[in-house]
Amino acid sequence: MKLNIAVLGGDGIGPEVCAQGVKVLKAIEKKFNHKFTFTNGLVGGSALTAKGVPLPDETLELCKNSDAILFGAIGDPKFEDGNDIKIRPEQGLLKLRKELGLYANIRPLKVFEPLIHKSPIKEKVIKNTDFVIFRELTGGIYYGDKSTNSDGTAASDTSNYSISEIDRIAHMAFKSAKTRRKKLTLIDKANVLETSRLWRKRVKELAKEYPEIAVDYLYVDNAAMKIIINPRQFDVILTDNLFGDILSDEASVISGSIGLLASTSIGEKSVLFEPIHGSFPEMKGKNLANPLATILSTALLLEHFKLYEEADAIKNAVEKSIEHHITTPDINSTKKFAHTTTVGEFISEYIMDKKNILYHVENISLGQSTII
Ligand code: IPM
Ligand code: MG
Repeated sequence: MKLNIAVLGGDGIGPEVCAQGVKVLKAIEKKFNHKFTFTNGLVGGSALTAKGVPLPDETLELCKNSDAILFGAIGDPKFEDGNDIKIRPEQGLLKLRKELGLYANIRPLKVFEPLIHKSPIKEKVIKNTDFVIFRELTGGIYYGDKSTNSDGTAASDTSNYSISEIDRIAHMAFKSAKTRRKKLTLIDKANVLETSRLWRKRVKELAKEYPEIAVDYLYVDNAAMKIIINPRQFDVILTDNLFGDILSDEASVISGSIGLLASTSIGEKSVLFEPIHGSFPEMKGKNLANPLATILSTALLLEHFKLYEEADAIKNAVEKSIEHHITTPDINSTKKFAHTTTVGEFISEYIMDKKNILYHVENISLGQSTII
């Protein structure tokens, strides 16, 4: 298969983890005889520095003309409030989502058996947790009118949702539930917010079209607690933009590290794959960031194009890297942790030549970037 992939590394650790994703996709390309073309584009703080805007036109064009986008992370302390900044790097990502119509952000959460002890939550609580969050991505308070008064003493953000915005992601979530454990939970704040009441009303109506799906409704404060005390009760979570942002970071602690969670953003025109973690600027350039979320995002990319065998090859290799402790310090607290590039190399090599790399595992001098 021929695929044109736009690579937007972004800020902080984004470019480093994306480079590992590309490395792994190149191994897949070789092993399975595909033709992937990678083109880099600037976004976020790095685009602001180079071009004065967080999403240059050429980056948007590149994304529109690509089959898929691999995205790193966005956010740079240089552009934090207090530095008298008018445009923030994050605006690049928000504009990209809107321009490409990426209205559904799908964030699967699974527990990796060998890492279960890394979670701050008890093993018996999180064992076999397996749910997916469908987060609405182009509406709500993120995109409503915003204002600050002239003397900076008051500000407002507005949240808007229309039925059509709710319907399209709700249908997607219901369809996903059909292929899973047939349960959907709408998370909202319908006891307070008008938009949440609309979500609830609509989802109740749409549920009639999916009689095989058990639907329940939770207020977000209550759900935030239940995700921690009984995460196994969830199968498909459907929620709005802001709640989805918050709940997916919360849910990531179940897996032991936010550095493990991948996501797909999908919509009318394009499809984008990214780790759910942020740009982690403190870790930038240290070769210590966990590339697994990005590498697992490349598996989601391949699945999107129905390249299931290829996606499985990546997922198996990731499991092997975890099993053999070829992992970064966030999930490997021993002195023998691996660097970002080493993890990427191990996974690529494992995909290319399983037996050989396992033979070499014993000889790998961890902490060095070259393993063969
Ligand atoms: C995410 C991030 C973004 C968001 C930021 C970087 C704008 O936190 O993708 O979850 O809030 O959507
Ligand atoms: Mg977030």
